[in-house]
Amino acid sequence: MKIAFCCTDTRPEPWLQGLSAALPQADIQVWQPGMAPFDYAVVWAPPQQFIDEQPGLRALFNIGAGVDGLLKLRLPPGLAVVRLEDAGMSVQMAEYVCHALIRHFREFDAYEASARQGQWSFRKPRSRADFPVGIMGLGVLGRRVAQAVAQFGFPVNGWSRAPRALDGVQTYSGPQGLQDFLAASRVLVNLLPLTPDTENILNHDTLGRLQPGGYLINVARGAHLVDADLLALLDAGQLAGATLDVFRTEPLPAQHPFWQHPKITVTPHTSARTLRGETIAQVAGKIARLARQEPITGVVDVARGY
Ligand SMILES: NC(=O)c1ccc[n+]([C@@H]2O[C@H](COP(=O)([O-])OP(=O)(O)OC[C@H]3O[C@@H](n4cnc5c(N)ncnc54)[C@H](OP(=O)(O)O)[C@@H]3O)[C@@H](O)[C@H]2O)c1
Repeated sequence: MKIAFCCTDTRPEPWLQGLSAALPQADIQVWQPGMAPFDYAVVWAPPQQFIDEQPGLRALFNIGAGVDGLLKLRLPPGLAVVRLEDAGMSVQMAEYVCHALIRHFREFDAYEASARQGQWSFRKPRSRADFPVGIMGLGVLGRRVAQAVAQFGFPVNGWSRAPRALDGVQTYSGPQGLQDFLAASRVLVNLLPLTPDTENILNHDTLGRLQPGGYLINVARGAHLVDADLLALLDAGQLAGATLDVFRTEPLPAQHPFWQHPKITVTPHTSARTLRGETIAQVAGKIARLARQEPITGVVDVARGY
């Protein structure tokens, strides 16, 4: 079995070592233009040339959960695109979102500012009931985040494409459920895939429907958010703040207003990193199953976009 490794911005050696250890019978090589056909590929942001030169692949394993970049390429019809399912990301996402939520809810920024001035000053406790959290996307990551947020006692709402039932979560679905979901939420967490249906979904209209003092945590993709609409709502005082991990252009350009905005916290697309060990174990396990003609999970519905 031949496996190509074609991951932009990734040092290949430790991946090749790990994959070879997990699949000792496989011949695993870093792809170069002009190479002979492979059976499987492990990819991150591969060039179109790779896809064009390897029309006979049995499956393409993306080493991330989001496949929006991959689906922009021209892929042969019927090629199985496989996304990462959790692989250590959901707990990181839960940590990140709970941190951002609690930092805002408990006003830790204000405490930090007071402490820097040597002030011992209390703020009035706020009620969790006044901070319902709305999670857009109830997939692998959204479900884990919803569970973690609920354990802190916040009311939790969730929104998905198809109706979903989740313990402790008030769920909404589809375009018809979106307005009620937003109106019931004060803190909005975005964990949607980027598709034609969800691009620009965080805009003046949707963000403006959150409860007063709304707060945005965007951990999915930068193109979900209309940057100027967020700035306008923050500057008008309609939203209280935002924590943003993903951006339309990454790295976020030095002159972008998000960097300096007093109500925005920026992190460098780090909320849930791909962990090499977990990823190799998952991908190798699935390749082994496919080689034995067994079914696998995590195959992307290309027409749906996730
Ligand atoms: N910042 C980071 O470091 C980082 C890391 C990993 C992933 N991500 C992002 O997180 C995203 C989510 O990952 P995941 O593994 O949780 O994805 P997933 O398992 O595919 O779940 C996607 C969820 O979004 C819902 N959804 C999709 N389109 C929708 C629409 N048009 N309207 C309403 N709901 C819709 C789906 O609804 P159904 O349940 O009805 O299908 C599902 O609940 C990824 O696509 C990626 O962009 C970011």
